[in-house]
Formats: sequence, structure tokens, C-alpha cells
Amino acid sequence: MGIDNRIGIGLMGLGVVGSGVAKALLEKAGQLTKQAGGTLVLEKVLVADIDKHRPVQMAPGLLTQDPRRILDSPNIGIVVELIGGEDPAAAYIESALKNGKHVVTANKDVMAKFGPELLQLADQNGVEILYEASVGGGIPLLLPLKQSLAANDISSIRAIINGTTNYILTKMSQDGLSFHIALREAQEEGYAEADPAKDVEGLDAAYKLAILATSAFQSTVRPSDIYCQGITRLGEADFLHARELGYEIKLLAIAKKTEGAIEARVHPVLIPADYLLAKVTGVFNAIQIEGDLVGQVLFYGKGAGSLPTASAVVADIIAVARSIRGPRPEPMPAGTVVQDMVPVKPIFDLVSPYYLRMNIADQPGVLAQIAHVLGDRSISIASVIQKRADPVTHSAEIVIMTHPAREQFMDDALAEMAKLSVVREICNFIRVEG
Ligand SMILES: NC(=O)c1ccc[n+]([C@@H]2O[C@H](COP(=O)([O-])OP(=O)(O)OC[C@H]3O[C@@H](n4cnc5c(N)ncnc54)[C@H](OP(=O)(O)O)[C@@H]3O)[C@@H](O)[C@H]2O)c1
Repeated sequence: MGIDNRIGIGLMGLGVVGSGVAKALLEKAGQLTKQAGGTLVLEKVLVADIDKHRPVQMAPGLLTQDPRRILDSPNIGIVVELIGGEDPAAAYIESALKNGKHVVTANKDVMAKFGPELLQLADQNGVEILYEASVGGGIPLLLPLKQSLAANDISSIRAIINGTTNYILTKMSQDGLSFHIALREAQEEGYAEADPAKDVEGLDAAYKLAILATSAFQSTVRPSDIYCQGITRLGEADFLHARELGYEIKLLAIAKKTEGAIEARVHPVLIPADYLLAKVTGVFNAIQIEGDLVGQVLFYGKGAGSLPTASAVVADIIAVARSIRGPRPEPMPAGTVVQDMVPVKPIFDLVSPYYLRMNIADQPGVLAQIAHVLGDRSISIASVIQKRADPVTHSAEIVIMTHPAREQFMDDALAEMAKLSVVREICNFIRVEG
């Protein structure tokens, strides 16, 4: 193959994902060349510490600590950003696009916050930016949304897109572990970081949902638009009651397009135990998308890991390489350009059924007081179950399931019920989906 068939790649980052990408580029060179229509040549690899021991062998001189050796190199046509985080990755991506280089990234922080602007910048410079691996690791999502589902109006996304929390919730549900013990197991297994806040508080899922919703609805959804509640308040009792009522508890990222507005939220939900999403266990991810023509489709697989994530990154590299070899890229295809600015609904406007678990005084008339507070706010009760009564403290645990109600009213009701002397504690309230 002649020298002009070379496609120079600058890899920024050689960590978990970068190593997987380098391994695939080096070990599968023959196959990738056929698919890309040119030889993919790893020209430079940016790292923070050039002396670090690496799991992949790199040719001498390939590693650099100087980003300009990639961003300003005339031999590099595709910059693959796998450093992660916002700073300096966002600046490197911007610089690469301005220098007329295509970009492939797995960076959810950058794409969730600045995706629409970077897509526009790429368009202005006649290049592409692809970011399939930023959501769901190796699971194809953004390309199917853009191509295979292009004929659909997407009405909803319900997704398990954080493997760490799904692992913890699976342990709590199946083994009856407390949140803290399940988290410790996840850390011991290498599924949770030493500081797990971004995962367990739902922020990681919110960033991914921002990317997915923006792509699905072609309207800018920022992480700051997304209501976000993590899993730290869930107790063993919630799992026991949920199971008894025929539900599982999952952390779902939900986005829906309703009349003139978008709903976007991440929080624990009770979902019927026979739903496919309820059966997704461990670190696996699953994303259910609903379109007006296709109905419901479900994408399932590994949402993280070196090689699964590299699978998506390398596929993006091949797609970009093909477009370099083919005719000049057309203006952005539908599904990537943000066409609308549909407002995102505040959580208080949500209408949902609720599960309430509370500790009350074990005496006559208490339920009537609670029903009164709920009834005053048009919240109707679907069922009440009285659980354990404690003869020593004269208290009892009750679980109330409501019919769909407005979140604003439920919030008022919770505040009012907390003031009742007979309510000892409102232990949890969880939205019900499905
Ligand atoms: N890990 C996954 O399973 C997964 C899944 C989906 C998406 N992603 C995304 O993929 C990206 C990479 O994640 P990762 O897990 O591979 O990260 P990682 O293991 O921490 O690797 C980061 C790499 O970037 C280099 N680096 C960090 N800061 C740098 C700087 N200022 N200048 C130059 N190089 C720098 C590091 O160099 P040294 O090696 O010298 O320290 C390292 O090679 C992130 O955006 C992440 O969100 C990861």
C-alpha cells in the first residue's frame, strides 16, 4: 500500500482504554486496514509519565509528554483523546479540531458539557468528532441512533448506564447486603473507585444521559438540566418490600420527549420484576430506546473495560478513516446536529406513582392522619402494607404505594407528614416506573 494510503493517528492517553486501543491497532492491523481503506499508523502516543511501566509494548520514540507533537503534526489526521476528565482534554480536542484533525473520544465529561459546541466546531472545520465510547462503553448506541433508528421519533430512553451502581444494587437485592458492604465488595472487585461519589450519586449516569438525550432528541440537554439522585439512601428493607410487591430497584437514567418538553432524570426506581431492565444484573449496562416506528429496542452489554471500550473507539476510528478516504464529509448527519432547544421539565412537574416507607407510632388513627395529608394534595393511595411492629418503641413500619401523582404535591405531602407527631421517620420514597 502506498505512502498516501497512510492515516496517521495520534493517541492521547495510554491507560485502561488507550492500552486496549493501541493493542487493537497493533494486533489487528491487517483487518483494520481493509476496513478503514488505508493503513492506520500510530504516529505518537501522549502520556503523563513517559517512564511508567506499560502493559503494551510501544516502539521507541512513540511516547511523548508533549501534546503539540500530536496536535501540530502534519502526519496525524485523527486524534484519539483518551485522557479523560475536562482539563486538559477539552482544550486538546478543541485545538485538534481547529487544526483540521478528526477527533475520536470516549470522554463523557467533555461531550456532555461541550458536545453541541464541539460538533459545530468540527463542522466549521470540515472534520468529524465521534464519541461512541462515551456512553455504554462497547455497546453501540450513538451510531444506531443516528443511522439505524434515523426514521424514528424517539420518545423515551430508559437506561442502566452505570455498571458500578448496578453491581451494588444487584448485591443488595440478591444477597441482602447493606449499601456500604455492597460498595466495599464493588471496590474490592475493582468495579468501584476509591472515591465512588460520581457513580453512587448518579452523576456519571447523568453525564451519559445528557449525551444520549441530546443525540436522541436533537436538542441540547446539559448535565445541569438533569435531576439526579443517587443510591446511597436505599436500605435493605426497601429491597425486601420491593421484592414482595413484585418489583426490583434499579438506578435508571430516563429521558422522555413529551409535548413541548423533555424529561431527563437519574434516580432509583421500582420497576416490575418481569421487565427486561429489571433482570440486568452485575456490571452490565442495558439501554431501552422507544421509537414511533420500531417500538422498543434494547441494547445490552459491557459498559466499560479496556477491550469493550476499545471496540467502540476503534470502530469510530475506522468510520473516520473511511470518510477521509471517501468523498469530503457532508454537513453533519441527522442525529448529531442539535436542531432544537426544547426545554427540560423541572422534576416537580413529573407525574409518577410513588413508594413510601415510613416509621410511624403503632396506635389507632395514624393511617387516617397520613391519608388525610395525601388526600389534601390529590394523592390517592393504591395500597398500604403494615410491616414490622416494635413492641418496645411502639412503632411500626408501613409501606404506601400511591397512584400517579405530581412530584410537587408529593414533596409538599412529605414535608407535611414529617411534621406529624405520629410519624417517627420517613425512611424513603422511590418513584415507580412502568
Ligand atoms: N475505563 C473504562 O472502562 C472506560 C469506559 C468508557 C469510557 N471511558 C472513558 O475513556 C477515557 C479514558 O479512561 P481510562 O479509564 O482509560 O483512563 P486512565 O486509565 O486513567 O488513563 C488515562 C491516560 O491518560 C494519560 N493522562 C492523564 N492525564 C494526562 C495529561 N494531563 N497529559 C497527558 N496524558 C495524560 C495517563 O497517562 P499515564 O499512563 O502516564 O498516567 C493515562 O495513560 C475517559 O474519558 C473515560 O471516561 C473509560
